[in-house]
Formats: sequence, C-alpha cells, structure tokens
Amino acid sequence: MTTSEFNLSKHARAYQYDYMTVIDNVMPSTLCDVLRCRINKIIEDGKVAWVSHEGKGNADVSDAGGRYLHHIFQGDDVREHLPELTTLYHAVLPLVTAITNQDVVVSPHRRSDVNIKVYPAGGGTLGEHYDSNGITALLFLTSNKEAPLRVQLPRAHPSKQNPWVERRNVYATAGSLLLMKDREVLHDCEPTVTEQKITAVLNFYTRDDTWRHERFDAFVYEGANPAGTTYAD
Ligand SMILES: [Fe+2]
Repeated sequence: MTTSEFNLSKHARAYQYDYMTVIDNVMPSTLCDVLRCRINKIIEDGKVAWVSHEGKGNADVSDAGGRYLHHIFQGDDVREHLPELTTLYHAVLPLVTAITNQDVVVSPHRRSDVNIKVYPAGGGTLGEHYDSNGITALLFLTSNKEAPLRVQLPRAHPSKQNPWVERRNVYATAGSLLLMKDREVLHDCEPTVTEQKITAVLNFYTRDDTWRHERFDAFVYEGANPAGTTYAD
C-alpha cells in the first residue's frame, strides 16, 4: 500500500476550522484484522457488556436522548484483552498534541480512557451527543459502506443573519484515526444494516481540564438516569 506524506499543517487546519481531521493508515490493515478477530471471540465468550437503551439521555450528560445499541469494551477490558490499543493510546499523544496545538494528556478516568464500541449488523447505533472530554480520537477497525459517523458542524458568518449547521457523514476506513472537537460537534452513528462496525475510542483531555460528567459513564454504559435516581423500568 502506498501512503501519502504526512502533512501536519493540513491536519491542524482541518481540526481548527472543520472541527475534525482523519489520519489514514495509523494502523496496518493486517493488525486491524487480528484485533477484529480477537474482539469478536471475546464477545462470543460473553466477556464484555452489551449496551441497549433509548431515550434516557438529556442535557445533564450532553445527550439528545437517542438509541444506544452496541457491545462495549471499557478501560479495563481494553487493558486486559487489547494491550496494543493501550500502547497506541500513549504513542499517539505527541501526534494529537501537534495537530490540536493543545497541552494534551491521557485520561485520568480508567473506565473510559480507551473504549471499543462494536456495532452489530441490524441496528447497532449510538445516539446524538456531545462528548464529555475535549479531544476524541476514533480508530476505525473496520471499513464500512454504511453506518457513518454523522457530525453537525456549527457554522456562522457575518454575511448570514443566523448561524447554521453543516452536516457531514464520515465512513469508517480500517486503520484510520479521526480526531475531533467532540465537545463542540453534535454527533451520532447511523444504525448499521448488514455490516458490523468496530470503533476504538481514545479519549484525551488537556492538562488544565480533565472534567467529565459525574454520571456520564453510568448513563452511557448502563442507561442509568443522568439525574442520579433509578428508572422504574
Ligand atoms: Fe462521542
């Protein structure tokens, strides 16, 4: 496979003005295949949690109340079963720092530092939300012709009376790393139809801001009420 030369200013500009950029070929496709096989075996063995809830998100957790349907590898699951991703998480920190021009640090939150979301064929999805952390990197482990990441970019210009939203769909390519300002961009995953989609989520923060919604993880992983009380159902 031929790869184009890495262009730092191109990625920094895209991140700054388009809220996101995609760096191709961060992981070779052969390693994506190996990880995908291992991930599916771990799911078959019932070692990771299944997330299924709908309509429970609200502004307390920066969520629009959509549907969540996927398997989840939480921080300790990744450390135990996919140490390559823990290594990659630390190894790309200087790259993330260079592109974002922020003082980037890894997450102090063990449960959510590196996650893997595995969307099964037939409706796997993730509802509209803003992320809790400031910088999110998504490493795609599958290539997909469906189930794009749907992003809503806030736009404004003095020639226009009102701000508007630019919508884009980003289709996964195995081995690509997407960097996004996820606190500023409302986003979701369109439901799968026939394909499985696997995304590793690398959550980064800045040194002066490692804030995370207190109840965010319990809501996302378990569908717990963001207000902190339990649901009747
Ligand atoms: Fe997100």
